[in-house]
Amino acid sequence: MSERVGLWLIGARGGVATVASIGLLSLQQKRVNESGLVTALPLFAEADLVDWSQIVIGGHEIRDTTLVEQAVNFQQTSRAFAPNLVEEIKEDLAEIDQRVVPGILHRCGVTIDQLAESKIQSDHRTVDEKLGQIKQDLLNFKQENELARVVVINVSSTEPPADASQLPDTWEAAASRLEEFPISSLYSIAALQTGCGYVNFTPSLGSNAPAICQLAEQQGLPHSGSDGKTGETLIKSALAPAFAMRNLEVLSWVGHNIFGNMDGLVLDNPENKKTKVDSKDRLLGEILGYDPQTHISIEYIKSLGDWKTAWDHIHFQGFLGTPMVMQFTWQGCDSILASPLVLDLMRLTERAMRAKQAGVMSSLACFFKSPMAVQENNFVHQFSMLERWVKDISV
Ligand SMILES: NC(=O)c1ccc[n+]([C@@H]2O[C@H](COP(=O)([O-])OP(=O)(O)OC[C@H]3O[C@@H](n4cnc5c(N)ncnc54)[C@H](O)[C@@H]3O)[C@@H](O)[C@H]2O)c1
Repeated sequence: MSERVGLWLIGARGGVATVASIGLLSLQQKRVNESGLVTALPLFAEADLVDWSQIVIGGHEIRDTTLVEQAVNFQQTSRAFAPNLVEEIKEDLAEIDQRVVPGILHRCGVTIDQLAESKIQSDHRTVDEKLGQIKQDLLNFKQENELARVVVINVSSTEPPADASQLPDTWEAAASRLEEFPISSLYSIAALQTGCGYVNFTPSLGSNAPAICQLAEQQGLPHSGSDGKTGETLIKSALAPAFAMRNLEVLSWVGHNIFGNMDGLVLDNPENKKTKVDSKDRLLGEILGYDPQTHISIEYIKSLGDWKTAWDHIHFQGFLGTPMVMQFTWQGCDSILASPLVLDLMRLTERAMRAKQAGVMSSLACFFKSPMAVQENNFVHQFSMLERWVKDISV
């Protein structure tokens, strides 16, 4: 395929987006191999996925900073890749930065509002005007860069919980009540209305509302979410089925998470944290078929930067009622785990667009902590769903 395609990142100068940009440039310039990328597995060899060289990045961002500044800062605080890498690609990063435009705030809570530069904080346009602006930004990106298709991926800060049951459940009703949707949903609406595929890598509402699902069907476009499954929850969704299959009763599962990046700072607000904890907590009961006592903590520890430590304590009971314990410690660099999945999701969504697939991509469940429209949380079963999709789509 020789067409160029766009990857539009909402939160374009955040940790995950910055490393996705560094990663894409490194792949395009053949500086790195493809480890960490799911779509580089032999399974995808015949799937006709877009080549790295054809992808162009742009995005929305609310903070007054630059991609190079964020990349240098990331390297200095988290030391996750070779020290000279940022220096070597800084002009290419600056070029991507020119395609990043001011983001929009709407119902995303005070912690996120405070991150934004003052001009964005004092944007008092109506919700229709804000939606119109996002759509115009996407159309400009597509036109100026001569892109055949665009996939919009939400990697912006986690919003406080939004109660989807209070929102209108048909697109017809929602269209006149847009004011009630948070900004993550407005971005998804703009994406779908301008012919883009959409992925929600965050636990924010995004397109996960019945009215927006209906819009995606009407527009004939694929979308997916929610909340990338990158670390502790990935291990949980692979490990919990083993307890279930051996009929070892899980009595309690406690997970403590500590990390120090900006995502952690936003999640330090109890409102924003609730969205994340709910997303991390829901899968256990669904995998086991009963609800053991669970506890999840997420604490912001600045000195750790992007390095997250999760300590999980699993108390379980075996034959003769004998209690036993399993503990694991996960130490992962958050953005290094997340950014290849963002690139994978872009390629898979773009492929679905070419195949004219519409609606929720349940085949992508293995990428998410809270997969939309899917009850299956067992990682191995979820991966089989992806395998089936790839085999169907392969040429
Ligand atoms: N392993 C992971 O890193 C991981 C896994 C799953 C989900 N996530 C989710 O992905 C998201 C990004 O994570 P991160 O570590 O990059 O966070 P981050 O805080 O470094 O980046 C978020 C970026 O979004 C920007 N932003 C906030 N509101 C915006 C808006 N309305 N419009 C445009 N930009 C906006 C912020 O200024 C910031 O640059 C978070 O919601 C996080 O919970 C991350």
